[in-house]
Amino acid sequence: MAGTVVVGMQWGDEGKGRFVDVLAKEHTLVVRYQGGHNAGHTIVVDGDSFALQLIPSGILHPAITPVIGNGVVVDPEVLLAEIDMLESRGVDCARLRVSANAHLVLEHHRVIDGLFEELRGDDAIGTTKRGIGPAYTDKASRLGLRVQDLLRPEIFRERLRHGLIDKNAMLRGLGRDELDADELADRYLGEVADRIAPLIADTTALVNGALEAEQGVLFEGAQATFLDIDHGTYPYVTSSNPVSGAATVGAGIGPRHLTRIVGVAKAYVTRVGSGPFPTELAGDLADELIEKGHEYGTNTGRRRRVGWLDAVQLRQAIRLNAATELAITKLDVLSGFDTVRMCVAYDLDGEELLYPPALDAEAERARPIFLDLPGWSGDGLPAEALAFLRTLQDQVGLPVRMAGFGPGRGDEARFDEGVPAEATA
Ligand code: IMP
Repeated sequence: MAGTVVVGMQWGDEGKGRFVDVLAKEHTLVVRYQGGHNAGHTIVVDGDSFALQLIPSGILHPAITPVIGNGVVVDPEVLLAEIDMLESRGVDCARLRVSANAHLVLEHHRVIDGLFEELRGDDAIGTTKRGIGPAYTDKASRLGLRVQDLLRPEIFRERLRHGLIDKNAMLRGLGRDELDADELADRYLGEVADRIAPLIADTTALVNGALEAEQGVLFEGAQATFLDIDHGTYPYVTSSNPVSGAATVGAGIGPRHLTRIVGVAKAYVTRVGSGPFPTELAGDLADELIEKGHEYGTNTGRRRRVGWLDAVQLRQAIRLNAATELAITKLDVLSGFDTVRMCVAYDLDGEELLYPPALDAEAERARPIFLDLPGWSGDGLPAEALAFLRTLQDQVGLPVRMAGFGPGRGDEARFDEGVPAEATA
């Protein structure tokens, strides 16, 4: 078997976790390759809801080794809190493996994230304020600390002192309290380091070993395609690359191992934070979708923005990820509407576009062209819901192989060849 990537096709919160959970059973390792605890997956097992931020969803399957790859940024305190939460609910976390090369998210990153957002004022990105951007900035600036530094207290202290010079200069300049390197080092080097130590591993060797032994490896993307720092709606993006290709760098494997790319999209679109959103809804319809879909951040509790499904965006996401199939979530939330809409093209100054324009100035002028489809009511996947999926397949030219119509394990249909012409659920 080879590598499978599960990647979000919109702005995050597509419900990737539920398909990772479904697919995990067919794999030996589940690997996170980017992002940090800005992510939030909710998985419902036997009526119990688990909210995970950092640990791969595979943790809920005892036979799977969950891996935090080198491309992830790890807040060690958050990791331990998540382990404690899972273990208190009977989930053994001893088999979790964390890359020695993953970078750490530390207190100063959180402080700087909040400060930058404050300084941007009305132009704030709307980050999760978890320190993710500043941790990746330090990584690129060669000022970061890695997970393995927890094992070498002197190196940790020295690198932390270096890493704080620019932050403290800025805090001082703004008349804010500075951070004390020794105090911070003491906070992380005691019990925190001792508890993380047994989890640290050469995850590149682990993942490549599994692939070479023909075991299935599932790469779990966090955030999503349009939050990608290169391909998303910059600057309203996250600071890593969620796209499928990043699984290679973020886990330390070569591209030939990635053969199945599952693109996950919600049956409508949501986004948290600022930035463009062509099919965004307002008013009662938006309120209804938000309440029915419980569209509040798993992590931050923020109300999400909401809009109709955008096939233009999906075509671009399919391209950027080389997606081989689609998985559509939350079809049940669309149940109960007389008509459901799907954006099938953009109108740019009278021209019909099937892909988003490259320039922001054009994207701002582009208007969605909607197709109105008959709505449905009731549970499961009635004929109109299947017709909605078939229309989507036709529009984007890729099979829908999974469709979720409820929050629990089992509330999904699988279509090995895509949704067939006359499918019934
Ligand atoms: P950051 O990743 O905290 O720096 O936030 C940057 C942008 O990505 C903001 O618009 C966040 O709301 C968004 N974001 C980060 N993580 C997630 C996620 O897991 N789901 C949805 N949006 C996210």
